[in-house]
Amino acid sequence: LTNGLGMTPPMGWNSWNHFGCNIDEKTIRETADALVSTGLSKLGYEYVNIDDCWAEFSRDDKGNLVPKKSAFPSGIKALADYVHGKGLKLGIYSDAGYFTCTRKMPGSLGHEEQDAKTFASWGIDYLKYDNCYNGGLKPTVRYPVMSRALMKAGRPIFFSLCEWGDMHPATWGAPVGNSWRTTNDIADYWQSMISRADQNEAYAEYARPGGWNDPDMLEVGNGRMTQDEYIVHFSLWAISKAPLLLGCDIRNMTKETMAIITNKEVIAVNQDPYGFQAKKVRMQGDLEIWAARLSGYRIAVILLNRASFRYRITASWDDIELDPETVVEARDLWEHETLRTHFVGNLTATLAPHSCKFYVLKPIA
Ligand code: DGJ
Repeated sequence: LTNGLGMTPPMGWNSWNHFGCNIDEKTIRETADALVSTGLSKLGYEYVNIDDCWAEFSRDDKGNLVPKKSAFPSGIKALADYVHGKGLKLGIYSDAGYFTCTRKMPGSLGHEEQDAKTFASWGIDYLKYDNCYNGGLKPTVRYPVMSRALMKAGRPIFFSLCEWGDMHPATWGAPVGNSWRTTNDIADYWQSMISRADQNEAYAEYARPGGWNDPDMLEVGNGRMTQDEYIVHFSLWAISKAPLLLGCDIRNMTKETMAIITNKEVIAVNQDPYGFQAKKVRMQGDLEIWAARLSGYRIAVILLNRASFRYRITASWDDIELDPETVVEARDLWEHETLRTHFVGNLTATLAPHSCKFYVLKPIA
């Protein structure tokens, strides 16, 4: 969407994966505080996004959406002021249908202009727009209406299409939104995570600055995957130019979680100005190579072991479109070291089950 936003994938936090409907203004404020105090905001995590369940069940007598009094007594405008005061941005959620998904709060279908104006007047910076209770109307009819309403609302608002990939939003999303979901909801376990990465990869060629494929939000730190699995999760999202929206309780994180989400080199791959989404360039049973071109003649490469056994895996220059004689320097993004030997023709690693290596390769000759 040509609103100037999302020139690199958005970074921030969203309430859904950890809190579900259990949200209130205190949690949102404390999350904003924690983004700053942990240093995450300095790394680029800027959006604080409220998901479903923030609204009252009925609109007011003028037809306006109203925040749930019991959970957001100070209102959304005050919350936006608070979040902006911390140098962060506030996101909210609505639905391209008659009701929102989980508790049937009001949706925005038929109220697009009014709701877009409300969001802008509150100081909202990001809208996630869900797909429930849509009356059987096609998304290509419903989503552009809100897109136009946001463009007229007088405030730049990142527009996140949450259509779940059913009608291939990658193929029509670019003029409509800044990101589009390519999958249904992620859950906090390996198979769920990895299958979303797979489905999202199929649309790699559609990603570009201003419009990104979205394989759903991060589960890192929610506790049901191993450290290696969360490293794979974060690595695949980063190289796939996915939104990096944290989904854990960032007020209470372990140092292992912090070590993953604060990896500046991995974040830098995600935020590379070229915006090329990685593709699988080799699949051999449970072994895969994912690669993406980066600025500065560099290449980001993930060597992935999806098996529950240890494996040796080799990426050949053929896989990643380098001339066979090219000599490269390899930076290991999780070990934070530049390998002492240079490589010609291929690069091999031995990988533990459900783990990966993440390299940035730079030709030196
Ligand atoms: C479905 C979406 O895909 C989820 O991310 C979340 O927003 C829920 N709806 C909320 O009801």
